[in-house]
Amino acid sequence: PIDPVRYLSNRSSGRMGYAIAAAAIAGGHRTTLISGPVCLPPIDGAEMRHIVTAAEMHEAVQAAIAEADALIMAAAVADFTPARPAPRKLKKERGAPVLELSPTRDILQSLVRPKKNFIVVGFAAETENLAERAKRKLSVKQCDFVVANDVSLSDTGFDRDDNIVTLYFRTGAAREMARASKADIGRRIVAEVQRIANNI
Ligand code: CTP
Repeated sequence: PIDPVRYLSNRSSGRMGYAIAAAAIAGGHRTTLISGPVCLPPIDGAEMRHIVTAAEMHEAVQAAIAEADALIMAAAVADFTPARPAPRKLKKERGAPVLELSPTRDILQSLVRPKKNFIVVGFAAETENLAERAKRKLSVKQCDFVVANDVSLSDTGFDRDDNIVTLYFRTGAAREMARASKADIGRRIVAEVQRIANNI
């Protein structure tokens, strides 16, 4: 929040996360979907948790993973938040406000993982050097794999039904997927998590 009527957000629609939750439910997995403010209907069968800020998402994720075997972190979490949200609406007669932002905590990097072999999937949205940056996130955020997409292409990614992604694995493997619906990508991600779980 900037003030009671305005907020900072980004172009992510939440569709990828919802598609993953639907795929997990279809695969018979107990699923909690922690969602920011999006315009999407709830996923039948998922335990829905609605949050607004990055700090609330952090808390909800930490609580939910206590009983989980895997975390798929598709959320486009805000990296910066207004340092001091105004308690009352900012009025334009007062002139253009200067917003001071402070960094949010990185959820993947600061989570206390509930057990050994807990499976973590991260995402990487990049406009340049996709492979290099995705691999860096894979290692810094200690993921089993990262789902990377190039968000500089105007016809994929944000607020669309399909996407082109590459999966980068901790083992060093990279798997580029042809353009696919978010439903198909969701099923692939859940299948890869299941494959890793079967090999533990
Ligand atoms: N992420 C997170 N907590 C944050 C920001 C991001 O857990 N405060 C997670 C995202 O859910 C995603 C991964 O980190 O799984 C990468 O997010 P992305 O936005 O691509 O990258 P950032 O780490 O935020 O770095 P940058 O925005 O500089 O690319």
